[in-house]
Amino acid sequence: MHGTHETGGARHVAIIMDGNGRWATNRGWPRLVGHRKGAERVKEIVRTAPDLGIEWLTIYAFSTENWKRSTEEVLGLMGIFARYIEKEAGRLAAEGVRMRFIGNRDRLDRRLQDLMAGIERRTAHLTRLNLTVAINYGGRDEVTRAVRSLLAEAAAGRLEPEAITDAAISAALDTRDLPDPDLVIRTSGETRTSNFLPWQSAYAEYEFTPTLWPDFTPDELSRIVARFGNRDRRFGGVKQA
Ligand code: IPE
Ligand code: IPE
Ligand code: MG
Repeated sequence: MHGTHETGGARHVAIIMDGNGRWATNRGWPRLVGHRKGAERVKEIVRTAPDLGIEWLTIYAFSTENWKRSTEEVLGLMGIFARYIEKEAGRLAAEGVRMRFIGNRDRLDRRLQDLMAGIERRTAHLTRLNLTVAINYGGRDEVTRAVRSLLAEAAAGRLEPEAITDAAISAALDTRDLPDPDLVIRTSGETRTSNFLPWQSAYAEYEFTPTLWPDFTPDELSRIVARFGNRDRRFGGVKQA
């Protein structure tokens, strides 16, 4: 599914929120302080996104590779996710935000899994903004799980090879309910995608900013989205006169 390029707007914006650790280290503070500040930024961005015409906001919070970090940092991050859900639930609902999660939940703490399922259920009827948080998400892991589920269907005799289409693969991914991202933003100056939405971003536009995530403001988001409106997206076709 493509975003609505007809409107020229960035309908689905996906963000790789990077640079929390450096932001804290630069100040001589523990990395977790940067993560806490980063979570505050998420609140502001979520609040302003609908005013910028964004209908879908997908944010990368924890990758399948982030388990390589210290136990202290991993547990600290999991605590921040749980607190965010608990504390923001009321406000998100009041602001019309539907919350979803993508990624492999099996490895997450049972209590966090319950909080995630709870807020998904409680906000399922809301439509002002679709906020999706990627936790224990990796594009390769997502594709691997999708292939496994499709093969299980095939082995059970319910799926023929011809039925494996582009759309069938999309429908087997965690993002089955989301349109493809129109714009992917990465903060902190790194110009890689680190396993974020590889299948879904085949035709996304990318923006890389040197700003560290805890310094990323709604104002900068607004400027990036405005720049996106001037881009000429062709989807493999020829520019229309
Ligand atoms: C991004 O900030 C948040 C997560 C990956 C959880 P980092 O923690 O990667 O910050 P840097 O890249 O070390 O500065
Ligand atoms: C990507 O950032 C993952 C998230 C923002 C959650 P990383 O900091 O983990 O990525 P690398 O290690 O620089 O590629
Ligand atoms: Mg990083």
